[in-house]
Amino acid sequence: PRPIGVAVLGMGNVGAEVVRIITDNADDLRSRVGAPVEIRGVAVRDLNRPRKIGQDLLTDDPAALVARDDVDIVVELMGGIDPARELIRSALQSGKSVVTANKALLAEYTGELATAAAEAKVDLYFEAAVAGAIPVVRPLMQSLAGDTVERVAGIVNGTTNFILSAMDETGADYADALAEAGRLGYAEADPTADVEGYDAAAKAAILASIAFHTRVTAADVHRQGISSVTAADLLAAKKFDCTIKLLSICERVRDIDGSQRISARVYPALIPLTHPLATVNGAFNAVVVEAENAGRLMFYGQGAGGSPTASAVLGDMVMAARNRVHGGRGPLESTYASLPIAPIDDV
Ligand code: NDP
Ligand code: HSE
Repeated sequence: PRPIGVAVLGMGNVGAEVVRIITDNADDLRSRVGAPVEIRGVAVRDLNRPRKIGQDLLTDDPAALVARDDVDIVVELMGGIDPARELIRSALQSGKSVVTANKALLAEYTGELATAAAEAKVDLYFEAAVAGAIPVVRPLMQSLAGDTVERVAGIVNGTTNFILSAMDETGADYADALAEAGRLGYAEADPTADVEGYDAAAKAAILASIAFHTRVTAADVHRQGISSVTAADLLAAKKFDCTIKLLSICERVRDIDGSQRISARVYPALIPLTHPLATVNGAFNAVVVEAENAGRLMFYGQGAGGSPTASAVLGDMVMAARNRVHGGRGPLESTYASLPIAPIDDV
């Protein structure tokens, strides 16, 4: 069979691991996909930085790489809105499948990008955009597609959980713990996104959109970060057998007249040490889903970092590659109903 050509946009914490795994696991990937998976090029900003890949594969012109006829799948790992949005849109419009981990972009533009993917009849996958290695997007979009999800709640930002855990467990200084999260590849390029809750809000918007089949953007999510949480707060929490975690909570709110609204909020919360989320430490994440028929499901694992995130990206890439070899598409991001957002004071 014809090889599947892959363009990787970005070779930072996640992109470097994606390139490594595609290269190291070429034989396994070929048998799982049913065709060889070949990297056509890797787009970066700085061509002079040393990289673990042949110089001939590097480019600082992502648009030209995306436009190549021998590229079937675009894996976007650059981050940010521009130029990622335009690159993804042009890839989809020219019939290429797209895999992205870019939650900041998806939280604003999933509608536009999902429409472009649907029109071109190609895949748009984003498992890595929420909770790193943890499969939660696909379970919500596929496994729970026939159920009614009532609540999706948990810890979806590794950096802030790493900081709060380090402050709580070892008395680490906030700034030192944040710097360490950056060194370990957990933090965003601008860590304000992590500590002020923007990243968790973007993930909450994505989770709410797919769980409730509606359209929620980051601006709809009530947001409070952890930058004002102090060591004294954590100590006080301990006295009450509690700890502090940055929670993301998305709920279906049913009004007395039968109408429904969505509430989505991110804030540092006091939780009892006996609660399962209290034991989620370091850069680990956990998401609890409550559905009418399935009951309560809990997803737990590494929520940030190069290799864990690359695992989710590769899963998506293999699915997209299989579909290109064998035919088929999906799962689809879909909107069935437009549910209003509940003001935070109402829930
Ligand atoms: P990094 O900042 O480490 O890497 C970004 C990469 O993109 C770099 O290689 C950079 O080039 C390249 N790049 C950025 N802008 C451009 C541009 N305009 N043209 C060409 N190349 C460009 O980010 P991460 O790997 O940490 O994250 C990538 C994406 O994955 C983001 O959307 C992030 O939110 C998401 N994500 C990250 C996770 C993590 O744990 N780190 C987890 C889940 C999702 P250069 O190397 O030359 O600077
Ligand atoms: N900066 C993000 C986090 C990366 O810390 O959770 C994973 O999405």
